[in-house]
Amino acid sequence: MQKGALNVHRIRKDFPILSRKIKDKPLIYFDNAATTQKPMSVIDAIRDYYMNYNSNIHRAVHQMAEEATHAYEATRQKVARFINSHSTDEIIFTRNATEAINIVSHAWGEDNIHKDDRIVITELEHHSNIVPWQILCNQTRASLDYIEVDHGGYLNMDRCEKILQNKNTKLISISEVSNVLGTIVPIRKIIEMAHGQDIPVLVDAAQSVPHMPVDVQTTDCDFMVFSAHKMLGPTGVGILYVKREILEKLQPFISGGDMIKEVHKYETVYNDLPYKFEAGTPNIADVIGFGAAIDYLNRLGMDKIRDHEIELTKYAMDAMKDIRGMTLYGPLDAKNKGGVISFNLGDIHPHDLATILNDHGIAIRSGHHCAQVLMEKFDLSAMSRASFYIYNTPEEVDKFINALNDAKRLFGI
Ligand code: ALA
Repeated sequence: MQKGALNVHRIRKDFPILSRKIKDKPLIYFDNAATTQKPMSVIDAIRDYYMNYNSNIHRAVHQMAEEATHAYEATRQKVARFINSHSTDEIIFTRNATEAINIVSHAWGEDNIHKDDRIVITELEHHSNIVPWQILCNQTRASLDYIEVDHGGYLNMDRCEKILQNKNTKLISISEVSNVLGTIVPIRKIIEMAHGQDIPVLVDAAQSVPHMPVDVQTTDCDFMVFSAHKMLGPTGVGILYVKREILEKLQPFISGGDMIKEVHKYETVYNDLPYKFEAGTPNIADVIGFGAAIDYLNRLGMDKIRDHEIELTKYAMDAMKDIRGMTLYGPLDAKNKGGVISFNLGDIHPHDLATILNDHGIAIRSGHHCAQVLMEKFDLSAMSRASFYIYNTPEEVDKFINALNDAKRLFGI
């Protein structure tokens, strides 16, 4: 272990699921881009809420309600600090990153996108950053435009510059890290270019916030979305960050209880920010669990997490490149990508390969990875994908390489 590196051996002890067996073999979990495992501290925080102070928030004055409100709002503070937003007012809890994008497409999009406007995304996007914009474009008769990706997995920045100079471009919505190719998109540069033309930018940070330091003030994005479950937290919690000056002009998309100050027969006064955007009883227990996940990541340090993933990705790619018949997709330099490796092995179908790996206790994802536009670009219907996190080890990668060689033997390639 390198000095100052993550103590993976110790980290693994915090994740009870890592001691389970699959097909009588120790679980090797390489599907972290889909969702990550949860440490005991997150599980305990959720259990503690239900066992000791289960109450609704922002309403009653009894002690348990106050404790629940305090714990829920403490997570908002942790999120704000984690991404360095100016204020907790800019942090809205949602169900997931997808819902967060939908809030922007409805609450902001329906007021700001009109006929003949253009919304710009990239060919790297996850369906959650494509479909909401297709719907908005259909409703408003605006058009959707794509920044192309080349076969090395990089965006065409010349085309990006041209698109941004078009006076009809009214929004750009981009992933910071591709969930398939791992490409790290130069969002600071894109945001700088976009802001030069007064175009706001939404960053889908679902694959970046869990894996590297992210700072919304330095990046200067206008909207950012991500999900708790991809960063040790529970499912059912997402974050929508919106710059205050935009948020102040935004009308609520989902309405009802908790987002109001006063309701009269025919009119309502909305609540202050950010509560105006959180209607109904939220996912209190899981937001509290998410707070414990952020504490855990902070204890490790995001720089160290990034370094660990670079090392592991490099180690895996170096070994995979030596396997005859292996095709790796996306950037081949681990420093230029997240801890995600998509690949195909000969003509073995990714689902068959994933099934064989499962027999070795190894969980990978196979299929279109919710990125069919990107699959079309590569003229493929599916890829296999291994994705790493803080608890993965080089020894696990060695077993993965052996399993890939085993699959080759089975298929006679
Ligand atoms: N976005 C998740 C993935 O890439 C579901 O697997």
